[in-house]
Amino acid sequence: MYSIQINEKRIKGKRNPMIYGHFIEHFHRQIYDGIYDPGNPLADEDGFRTDIIEAMRKIKVPVLRWPGGCFVSSYHWKDAVGPDRKPLFDKAWRVEDPNTFGTDEYVKLCRKIGCEPYICTNAGTGTAEEMSDWVEYCNLETEGQYAKWRIANGCEKPHKVKYWSIGNENYGSWEIGAKSSDEWGRLVRESAKMMKHVDPETELSAAALPDVDWNMNLLKNCGPYLDWISIHQYWDMMAEVQNPATYEECMAYTKNISRSVDDVRGMLTALHLEDRIRIAFDEWNLRSWHHPNVHTQKLGVGKESYLTPRDKNDDNSLYTMADAVFSACFLNAMNRNCDIVGMANFAPILNTRGCIYSNKEGIVLRSTYHVFDLYVNYLGDQVIDLWSEDTVPVIQVRSKSGEEMVVESLDLAATRWSDGTGVAIAVVNKHMDESQEIALDFKSGEASVIVYEITGESKDSYNDVGRTEVEIMDKNLGRFVPGMKIRLKPHSVNVIQIRNVI
Ligand code: AHR
Ligand code: AHR
Repeated sequence: MYSIQINEKRIKGKRNPMIYGHFIEHFHRQIYDGIYDPGNPLADEDGFRTDIIEAMRKIKVPVLRWPGGCFVSSYHWKDAVGPDRKPLFDKAWRVEDPNTFGTDEYVKLCRKIGCEPYICTNAGTGTAEEMSDWVEYCNLETEGQYAKWRIANGCEKPHKVKYWSIGNENYGSWEIGAKSSDEWGRLVRESAKMMKHVDPETELSAAALPDVDWNMNLLKNCGPYLDWISIHQYWDMMAEVQNPATYEECMAYTKNISRSVDDVRGMLTALHLEDRIRIAFDEWNLRSWHHPNVHTQKLGVGKESYLTPRDKNDDNSLYTMADAVFSACFLNAMNRNCDIVGMANFAPILNTRGCIYSNKEGIVLRSTYHVFDLYVNYLGDQVIDLWSEDTVPVIQVRSKSGEEMVVESLDLAATRWSDGTGVAIAVVNKHMDESQEIALDFKSGEASVIVYEITGESKDSYNDVGRTEVEIMDKNLGRFVPGMKIRLKPHSVNVIQIRNVI
């Protein structure tokens, strides 16, 4: 028996809504034929899909990072504003981008979703000037040619974009305009200076990774100018070959799931920056995107070798309870690290590996969507302490690379409502086929217990067009009794609400 204890008086902090952020890129059907679908009866007067926006609003998307991702490293924002858009040959993804969805459309979309915009700039082929011109266009009232251009384009008021990231994965050989560590430190510093001089209220991030040399050089050069440091992680790597890890192999990925955060936290602390700079985990997903023959020396010739295979991301049967359980463990870990992790962005929100799938007729809410719904709408607003005197039960799993490992089979996080109306405990049962029992070993006033549960008949259950196997189900367990036991189904994500509102 695994008995859990909580203490409402040991409040670790506000449960940060920005942990449940998202990312959308000009890739495959995320923007065009995705959220931006002019002419579709489901689209509004601006061409945005209202069914998709409604689904995004339900999970209270707090921030949406755009336009990339690799796409951004040869993207020029000026080609995508105003009346005559210049079509772009997107050298990252080797497709034509009509540039009909640009900054003004993006900001309008964010207003409709009710989320903060978060713009990632081109630090591949771009310059400090181009980045700071973008801030002028978005944030100055009327000063200078770019604010005037925005007004001429019909946007009288400034867009007030607060969050900006300098560059995307510029450390990687796959990235257009990749930089050495020294080059990166200087470019970020000069870009940050110009961007802050345009609008000192912007919050700036820069592409980083859990690598000491890259980060130390970046932070030594730019520490005073940065508010965030960006890291990305995908676990089940399928860029070239779509051979998805099994449920069991995905559970292996949950071991040390916050390793990157721990490493970057250490570097920030070593440089005494941990109070000023926070981590933006601004791309994460269990599954990396499938796009063969673009990120390698062997570039594909012929669309069937590099373009057609991208449709394989649309196979909804890939997104099972493994994705839901992994994502819940990741979000719990970011919550536990909410003192240093200020933002996390699921990559992406729509299509590709997203939590929402769309086609011309409608949408499918994949298993991961329901985890966001559960965590955003059913947990309390404060993170509180949770512990146990029992050892955490474990499972033996084999990783995708064939390594045997032992992984904790329960993952928990506790919250409370600051209005004192109760607590809500997130409990993930990772076990592939066994239910597990926990005991609520704490006192409470008069309260009722409801369990909100996401699971499926099998660990491989998934949702698709005309097929709903995974959704949030609720069970009323009646009055809270100290020490009461709750049985959690295998491969399930649960929120146990103990509330004293009748
Ligand atoms: O696979 C998609 C890419 O993953 C994103 O564009 C990039 O940021 C990351 O490498
Ligand atoms: O500390 C226990 C919690 O206190 C109860 O679960 C909740 O109802 C009360 O606020």
